[in-house]
Amino acid sequence: MPVQTVAKIVGKEKLIEGIYKFSMKTKEIAKEAKPGSFLEIQVSESYEPFLRRPISIYNVDKENDVVEFIFQVKGKGTKMLMDKKVGDDLNILGPLGEGTFEVKHYKKAYIIGGGIGTYPLYELAKELKENTDVTMYMGFRNKELVTLESEFEEVSKKLVVTTDDGSYKEKGYAIDFLKEDCNKEKPDIIFACGPLPMLQAVQEFAKKEKIECQMSLEERMGCGIGACVGCAVKVIRNGEEKYEYVCKNGPVFNAKDVII
Ligand SMILES: Cc1cc2nc3c(=O)[nH]c(=O)nc-3n(C[C@H](O)[C@H](O)[C@H](O)COP(=O)(O)OP(=O)(O)OC[C@H]3O[C@@H](n4cnc5c(N)ncnc54)[C@H](O)[C@@H]3O)c2cc1C
Ligand code: FES
Repeated sequence: MPVQTVAKIVGKEKLIEGIYKFSMKTKEIAKEAKPGSFLEIQVSESYEPFLRRPISIYNVDKENDVVEFIFQVKGKGTKMLMDKKVGDDLNILGPLGEGTFEVKHYKKAYIIGGGIGTYPLYELAKELKENTDVTMYMGFRNKELVTLESEFEEVSKKLVVTTDDGSYKEKGYAIDFLKEDCNKEKPDIIFACGPLPMLQAVQEFAKKEKIECQMSLEERMGCGIGACVGCAVKVIRNGEEKYEYVCKNGPVFNAKDVII
């Protein structure tokens, strides 16, 4: 059940230029958060900007009641968030999203993330690690954007890092390395989060190979709770097309059900 709460910033770290990790003290959200859950963050005390900003949960430390998220500075809202300091309070709504990544005992799971889409996959890999053989594929545009490599190394059995331009580790798209590994051994499931073209390619491949696939979607959001119809996405339920909401029914959907 999501709550609206005021949480203190207990940690702030600049990972690379324009990308920040915030640690928030919040017992209620830490207790309820699942891999794939997100937060709606109020970035200003005034009405400008009016809308909260949706940011995924990166890591949950239930023992210390801490929830962490990582964001890229894009526009006005995230710039205001960047200016917050340790000790400041943030008004947060969360954890949001009824559709989260399903953590159960898989023999083998492939997890693929692109750019800032890799961050929401950390908690998933962490929770799967104990019972599942996890291979993690992280794709970035170039070396400067590669983040959290050692963190993901700790929560996966094998880690593949790719850059589009070959400036670091493997050259090319992460999905091509995932496909290559699938030819050797098919996983029980593929989890994905990242830019739309990557998700579309993963969805097509999973469908062709008949591999279960869960993917986290991103849509422009208003309310974050299924009330404003701002984040509608087409899905297929019982053979019929209908609309659901990324904020409420997602953000994680089964790839075979969603039209992206
Ligand atoms: C479920 C979900 C999870 C997300 N998780 C992360 C994350 O973990 N890290 C991260 O860096 N970013 C994440 N995003 C994207 C992030 O919400 C946007 O980058 C941010 O809202 C931009 O706000 P802004 O004011 O800086 O930009 P502006 O462009 O000034 O924003 C204007 C408006 O558009 C909305 N908006 C802009 N871009 C997006 C977007 N891509 N998705 C949704 N709304 C958008 C804003 O909320 C705001 O209402 C996520 C988005 C969604 C929907
Ligand atoms: S953001 Fe309002 S319905 Fe999803």
